[in-house]
Amino acid sequence: MTASRATAHGKVILFGEHAVVYGVPALAVGIDRGAWAEASPSAEPSSTLRVRDWNVAVDASDASIPLACALRDLVAVTREARPLASVAVEAGADLPPGGGLGCSAALGVAVARALDPGAPADVIATRVMSWERVFHGNPSGIDAAVASLGGCIRFQRDAEPRIERVRLPSPLHLCVGHSGQASSTKVMVDAVARFRERRPEIAAKSFDAIHTLVKNARLALEAGDVRAVGQLLDLNQMLLSGLFVSTPEIEQMCASARASGALGAKLTGAGGGGCVVALVESAEIGAEVLAAWKREGFDGFATTVSGQAVATARAPREQSLGGAP
Ligand code: MEV
Repeated sequence: MTASRATAHGKVILFGEHAVVYGVPALAVGIDRGAWAEASPSAEPSSTLRVRDWNVAVDASDASIPLACALRDLVAVTREARPLASVAVEAGADLPPGGGLGCSAALGVAVARALDPGAPADVIATRVMSWERVFHGNPSGIDAAVASLGGCIRFQRDAEPRIERVRLPSPLHLCVGHSGQASSTKVMVDAVARFRERRPEIAAKSFDAIHTLVKNARLALEAGDVRAVGQLLDLNQMLLSGLFVSTPEIEQMCASARASGALGAKLTGAGGGGCVVALVESAEIGAEVLAAWKREGFDGFATTVSGQAVATARAPREQSLGGAP
């Protein structure tokens, strides 16, 4: 093996987080921020990973550190497909950990690609599930799929995940803002699972309603009807609040985005903190939303997505939405 470098996308879930864990389809887009990794042959007995931006270095033989276990499992599943000696991986991420933007999946996909540059995107997404399970317990797989494929996808969990590309007739202008609180996907997915056990009929009705939203949102996205998409984002946020995964900061950010001209806004990812996504009609309105968030103490960035996969996620730069690893 020679040294190989790879990248992967961060993601924004537009519709269907949490419900997607229970088989409801969801819609997500890859963004141009993400992760990179470079793998080189190593003379050490076990593989290593250093994440530069976080100042973290792990050895795959150290079973006490989740990142080391994730690396161990990813190397093992890659070895089932091809011979692979020990590797030293250098990596970086341009996403806030615990921000709901798929940081762990992007890092996993970048590492998986660096280990096996020729593997197809869907194979990489499947391999990265071994990495994702270490951090998130029972992930649906949507983060790994969009980190690997990019573009806009409809994802549905199944024995074999069902993934379809959604064609966007025109680019979507999004603002992504951080609530300032890191959140744990595992904790939030467990919280929804407990709610579902306590109130099965309410959870089922919420998931059914989200399913309907996802169907309508796909039609609206494909028709380029951004006003309808915005309204559906607001409705999805209401249903997520009903599952108790929103926070006062998230509600505040959604309200101020709408007051600044956004067509709709909701949390994205697991909630309980993390990020909000707002849909805007133009870059100018996006600047107003970002300025409003800034005045209230929330950092954010604008991103534009098309239905096509972005060729590569950007190389990392200084984290503007920082957070502890
Ligand atoms: C996390 O990005 C999305 C959740 O639906 C969890 C998952 O799908 O694995 C909350």
